[in-house]
Amino acid sequence: MDAFFFLSPISFSLFSLCIFTVFQVCCANHDIHFTSCAPFDCGTIRNISYPFWTDHLHRPSYCGYGDEGYKLECMENEPPVLTLSSQRFRVLNLNASFGLLTIQRVDLNTCPREILITDAFNYSFSAENITLFYGCRLRGLQPFSCTRDGREASPVFVVDENECDGSTEKVEIPVGKQAFHDLINGITSVNESLLQPFNMRYFAYEEYCKLCKDSGGGCGSNETVSSGGFVCYCRDHPHIFRCDHHGVLASF
Ligand SMILES: *[C@@H]1O[C@H](CO)[C@@H](O)[C@H](O)[C@H]1NC(C)=O
Ligand SMILES: *[C@@H]1O[C@H](CO)[C@@H](O)[C@H](O)[C@H]1NC(C)=O
Ligand SMILES: *[C@@H]1O[C@H](CO)[C@@H](O)[C@H](O)[C@H]1NC(C)=O
Ligand SMILES: *[C@@H]1O[C@H](CO)[C@@H](O)[C@H](O)[C@H]1NC(C)=O
Ligand SMILES: *[C@@H]1O[C@H](CO)[C@@H](O)[C@H](O)[C@H]1NC(C)=O
Repeated sequence: MDAFFFLSPISFSLFSLCIFTVFQVCCANHDIHFTSCAPFDCGTIRNISYPFWTDHLHRPSYCGYGDEGYKLECMENEPPVLTLSSQRFRVLNLNASFGLLTIQRVDLNTCPREILITDAFNYSFSAENITLFYGCRLRGLQPFSCTRDGREASPVFVVDENECDGSTEKVEIPVGKQAFHDLINGITSVNESLLQPFNMRYFAYEEYCKLCKDSGGGCGSNETVSSGGFVCYCRDHPHIFRCDHHGVLASF
């Protein structure tokens, strides 16, 4: 600390020049999208990149896939939280090589509903559906109650729909294979099974993204481009698919 004050004016200028040169070589000419979309840490998960993004940490949505499902809420020393089909899940693990997302329901205050399968999310091989019935009147214990469209509801799991009285609505909810097994064998109750972690597959433009990364770029999105939202951020400027491809994006 003190040493700093003993620097003569000349060495201070040399020092500044040095810093300036390093900056020029490293970053000054790099495209802002390329530099701002570097991998990030979010709560307990490190080194996260496309298709995930967050409002925190100055990671604009153009660094991710333009879908709410890929937006993470980051909290210190806690797993990130994402929202899928209006339901909140903790992200316990991200396996980028296999596109696997290990998630767990934050709670059962809001009633579980289907997770919509999209062109960016699907069940993994290790997930199974359980069918919950809403409006099923059943003698005996209702394992939990939750809020659904502003009203209290008690979804039930029954093996045979005929056990229900009254009009019912079926909803398919993903759980892991083990949780499914434990539920149908009566080892756990439905509320416990629904709170077990399970895997989903994510695959937002995974082939394009691989091409882009292999060419030295970072993946991102822009709704206005003809490639349907995918862009490759390179040191010079954003490209359509890969840094060594000469297509220049008119919208940048
Ligand atoms: C970060 O993740 C990328 C793949 O997404 C990997 O290539 C890289 O080695 C990781 N870096 C660290 C420090 O773990
Ligand atoms: C990613 O998933 C594969 C396949 O299930 C598994 O073999 C591998 O160990 C996982 N890696 C991490 C880091 O979780
Ligand atoms: C989701 O996975 C299922 C089973 O693997 C497959 O049949 C279906 O086509 C997939 N859907 C999408 C949108 O990829
Ligand atoms: C699930 O419901 C049962 C009652 O059926 C209760 O004893 C148990 O504590 C609940 N478990 C959780 C994790 O909420
Ligand atoms: C689970 O249910 C959803 C919604 O009904 C459906 O789209 C999906 O294909 C089902 N998946 C499996 C693995 O059965």
